[in-house]
Amino acid sequence: MEVSLAGKVALVTGTGPNIGSGIALLLAKYGARVACNDLRPDAAQKCVKRIERNGGEAIAIPGDVTDEKDVTGYVHEVLDTWGRIDILINNAALLGGLGILEESLEGFTRAVGVAANGNFLNTKHVAISMIERGIKGSIVSILSSNAWQGAPGVIAYAFHKGGLANFVRAAAMDLAPYGIRVNSFSPTAPEPDNPEWVAQFRAAGGFRPHPQPTDRPQWWRPIGRFDVRGNIPMGAAATPTDIGHLIAWLCSDYARLVTGCDFTVDGGARAKYWGYTPPAENAGPVPLVPVDVTPEVPLEDGSSGG
Ligand SMILES: NC(=O)c1ccc[n+]([C@@H]2O[C@H](COP(=O)([O-])OP(=O)(O)OC[C@H]3O[C@@H](n4cnc5c(N)ncnc54)[C@H](O)[C@@H]3O)[C@@H](O)[C@H]2O)c1
Repeated sequence: MEVSLAGKVALVTGTGPNIGSGIALLLAKYGARVACNDLRPDAAQKCVKRIERNGGEAIAIPGDVTDEKDVTGYVHEVLDTWGRIDILINNAALLGGLGILEESLEGFTRAVGVAANGNFLNTKHVAISMIERGIKGSIVSILSSNAWQGAPGVIAYAFHKGGLANFVRAAAMDLAPYGIRVNSFSPTAPEPDNPEWVAQFRAAGGFRPHPQPTDRPQWWRPIGRFDVRGNIPMGAAATPTDIGHLIAWLCSDYARLVTGCDFTVDGGARAKYWGYTPPAENAGPVPLVPVDVTPEVPLEDGSSGG
């Protein structure tokens, strides 16, 4: 029995090189045609190239997920091209940020706006397109550990990821009468499949909305430290490929009654007792089966095809 998304069309927002592009590639590998959105047209285009050189079918639909004209514009473009949308992945977000003592209203509002308006507008307009065509589709919002646990230094991120956790449950109730399912996936600092491309993208401004302050007041206290690799009971971080496998299943018809739920692929990190530190040495999981198996090709502008 195989999971297949053949015949389905997916729209993935924020297809930068890391998680968005990974999910888009996996959906294509499972047979979906994929529309790749990003605010940065080069990111959307690179994701298309990555899918195509792995044998899939994709189009780039650049646009701002918070702008209703952009959203209705690219939703119609997908409908004009392929006649349907079966799957929506609300992935676009602004990562990073600052803590409550340093965040500005502008930074807070901007980060919350991308998540809140992006999830709202895309879910609304894609759901309407599904209902009008009798499509019992699947919508997945990408959250974070920060939806469920408090971390310092990311007050806006914590606020919007936590809010989305219940947005998903409420949207699941709104759309259940139409057979449309809404779930979330919470990544836990995955290991990029393509670290060079991610580093390049982030260096070009694709990561934090604003830099960390350098001139902190005298009363400033350090925020402590993170150990995102040392706290995984199975000893290995997930990759976007691992995330994509789960999301592909979640968007398949085998998951026909799964709605209003959150999922993760984290080697046991979220289940872990808070005070427990796993041993440094362990057997680890079975090896990752690589999915991006074709060599990179340069784009017309001379940059890498991702
Ligand atoms: N990377 C992690 O460690 C991590 C951990 C937990 C959750 N997540 C979540 O996973 C998702 C993807 O993360 P990532 O690491 O791939 O991030 P990323 O920054 O590499 O990619 C996010 C993409 O969203 C795009 N984007 C931002 N604003 C947009 C807008 N208004 N309209 C359209 N596109 C826009 C960016 O250009 C970028 O390409 C996000 O929702 C993030 O919060 C990431």
